[in-house]
Amino acid sequence: MTPFTVPPAVSTEAAELSRTHPALAAIRFAGLELRNRFAVAPMTRVSATEDGRATQEMAEYYAAFAEGGFGLLITEGTYTDTAFSQGYLHQPGITDEAQAAAWRPVVDRAHAAGARVVLQLMHAGAVSQGNRFRDWSVGPSAVQPLGEQLAKYRGSGRWPVPAEMTRCQIGEAVDGFAAAAVRARTAGFDGVEIHAANGYLLDQFLTPYTNLRGDEYGGDAEERFRLVREVISETRSAAGPGFPIGVRLSQGKINDPSWQWPGGHAEASATFLAAATAGADYLHLAGSRRDWLPLAPAFPDAPSRPEEPTLPALARKVTGLPVIANGGLQEDAVARRVLDEQHADVLALGTAALANPDLPRRVAAGEALAPFDPQVLEPLATLGNARASAHA
Ligand SMILES: Cc1cc2nc3c(=O)[nH]c(=O)nc-3n(C[C@H](O)[C@H](O)[C@H](O)COP(=O)(O)O)c2cc1C
Repeated sequence: MTPFTVPPAVSTEAAELSRTHPALAAIRFAGLELRNRFAVAPMTRVSATEDGRATQEMAEYYAAFAEGGFGLLITEGTYTDTAFSQGYLHQPGITDEAQAAAWRPVVDRAHAAGARVVLQLMHAGAVSQGNRFRDWSVGPSAVQPLGEQLAKYRGSGRWPVPAEMTRCQIGEAVDGFAAAAVRARTAGFDGVEIHAANGYLLDQFLTPYTNLRGDEYGGDAEERFRLVREVISETRSAAGPGFPIGVRLSQGKINDPSWQWPGGHAEASATFLAAATAGADYLHLAGSRRDWLPLAPAFPDAPSRPEEPTLPALARKVTGLPVIANGGLQEDAVARRVLDEQHADVLALGTAALANPDLPRRVAAGEALAPFDPQVLEPLATLGNARASAHA
């Protein structure tokens, strides 16, 4: 017997460990039995085949997190249709049977090591910088994205001005999410996460400066939420009951990190509630230090609310749904407080997981975490590049 083994499911051993760190406590989360509250945050690694199939190398990469003790793996953003959703060359997709089948070894390896695995569904919209199906992009409106394409995902220069999506293209995008979820379920995934954060298509619709539409998909916050609502409800109808659907939301964007929701507390509350009403089973709040570290109120300027909660706590309170918090949570004192004070139910770790695929085991053993080295994502964020850096 090794000094510490992560049990495949809830057990007395897990209960014992939970006394040492709140994140090691098992949890029933959105219908899934998780052996602990450590999740791997979604991270694009642009290492699929050119035609979007997951590889053996990717199965090894995800298996390392499962074998290292993570309770939940959220995959990298995966494109959903053969029209405009692909954002990056060598991004994985789930648009046909071959792509779905290629995910099987990832799922099987994760399950064999006792983790649950959720597929993140992503439509890049106007910030697409590599799409083998189209050489032009679409977005809610013909507004050039802020900033520049991401070099670590093979982009350079500014993003082009997208074409304003037609109703037909909007319908195609919604159908893409729904069909992708059905394929994900068939491939054995434990759920899907709809990526409505970080400046991608759904977030472009939520954001007033990228959504200038005059039809029912634009306007006030409720109208800007319409597409997200349709995606959640169509995905729910297509995938059927008993298949968890999460929704990731954030204020900051890849190309506008300091963006804050203009409607503050009221808009955030309405957005969370709308996602829950549309059928989301959990919410994933991605943030930066400013959103909750050190557990700061979400909207501190609100004068009438001295007790303003953190964003994940607000999401939990308004919806009653389980919430994943993400962003800078490798700091032990913060991670403990997020759980102990019930700001969130699960912690998603990105860069700390890259540096420590066995992070839950380390935490349980009281071992120090390795610092994250940003060089592993340079010049490209590929898996092969990370291996080369590790051996340099
Ligand atoms: C290499 C890399 C790729 C990422 N790709 C995605 C992605 O595909 N989908 C997503 O929602 N977030 C993505 N993110 C953001 C992370 O999920 C997370 O929000 C971010 O790393 C902050 O969390 P951390 O402080 O624990 O690293 C990515 C981050 C990194 C470092």
